[in-house]
Amino acid sequence: MTEKDFISKPYSKTLESGSFTWSSPSNIALVKYWGKKEDQIPENPSISFTLDYCKTTTTLSFSKKEKYEEFSFDVFLDSEQKDDFKPKIETFFKRIERYLPFLKAYHFKIETSNSFPHSSGIASSASGMSALALCLMSIERSLSEVDVTEVYFNQKASFLSRLGSGSACRSIEGDLIVWGTHQEIGGSSDLFGIKYPKDVHENFKNYQDTILLVDKGEKQVSSTIGHNLMHNHPYAERRFEQAHENMSKLISIFKSGDLEAFTKIVESEALTLHSMMMTSMPYFILMKPNTLGIINAIWAFRTKTNSKICFTLDAGANVHVLYPENEKETVIEFIKNELVTYCQNEHYISDQIGFGAQLIS
Ligand code: DP6
Repeated sequence: MTEKDFISKPYSKTLESGSFTWSSPSNIALVKYWGKKEDQIPENPSISFTLDYCKTTTTLSFSKKEKYEEFSFDVFLDSEQKDDFKPKIETFFKRIERYLPFLKAYHFKIETSNSFPHSSGIASSASGMSALALCLMSIERSLSEVDVTEVYFNQKASFLSRLGSGSACRSIEGDLIVWGTHQEIGGSSDLFGIKYPKDVHENFKNYQDTILLVDKGEKQVSSTIGHNLMHNHPYAERRFEQAHENMSKLISIFKSGDLEAFTKIVESEALTLHSMMMTSMPYFILMKPNTLGIINAIWAFRTKTNSKICFTLDAGANVHVLYPENEKETVIEFIKNELVTYCQNEHYISDQIGFGAQLIS
């Protein structure tokens, strides 16, 4: 598939008005996307677990306009008008207009809400952009005469989501999604995410992710600034190669179910992401003392109990605690007894692997 394959055929139907609602989840990367070319073309492949509980629900209402000159839309978060969200959506619309020629024909009302509190430090760009892209795809499907296949629908939704926020392209489906071309993964593409096509061991079924909210504030470094730090970064090229190598290693780990080997890749990826930020110019430390407190407590617990618990990090201070379903009881106990004290207001979110976005109405 190339970009051209996502340019729409002329629409045969007309629609005066209507609305669609989609909910779309967040995702957590195991091999990280950090560094991009223009239009969110990633510098290296990444792979993520789709989440289940953490999601955005968006209703997109549309009505035909008289004049087609400008984009026209209003945005609401939890029923409150959010004009500060408009520039990002305007940029998104400009990028995708080529692929959705109806965008200027309608006035849109975008009503969105998140299952997680917006002051949780959890980024909503992946779930938010993918939910919006899916609503737009539903409009396109209604305008098209020919039946749009589910494969094409999901691929184009992922493709459009990527143009909103790179990691959003990994939120359309589940439970394991690859984005970025990798030579051992057939069908992988820089343009959209695909379901991981190879064998996955039972050990990864219903994998758990408890998100420890260490810092609920605004992100210290926006992802755009963060990705740009990889331009002219002294270690960038080696890092991009390493991501390819880690993806290759994960292929055999997913097959064998070797959770110790899984831990090594996942924790190393998280620490490498943060190392890249510490060694860029300007440099940043996005972990907080409590992030390190949690990491050390996880390592001590693992040594003491032989648990297969491990951690990963986003570009912030919060910690994602990953563990197999059969350890749920003991790990939750450990989190409650030893880790919640490191969280802001003892706040954490229990989540697990999910299977992608859902059409609500
Ligand atoms: C650290 O997808 O938020 O979470 O493409 O600029 O919107 P943009 O960036 P974004 O970057 C996510 C970075 C990450 C790693 C990952 O999810 O792979």
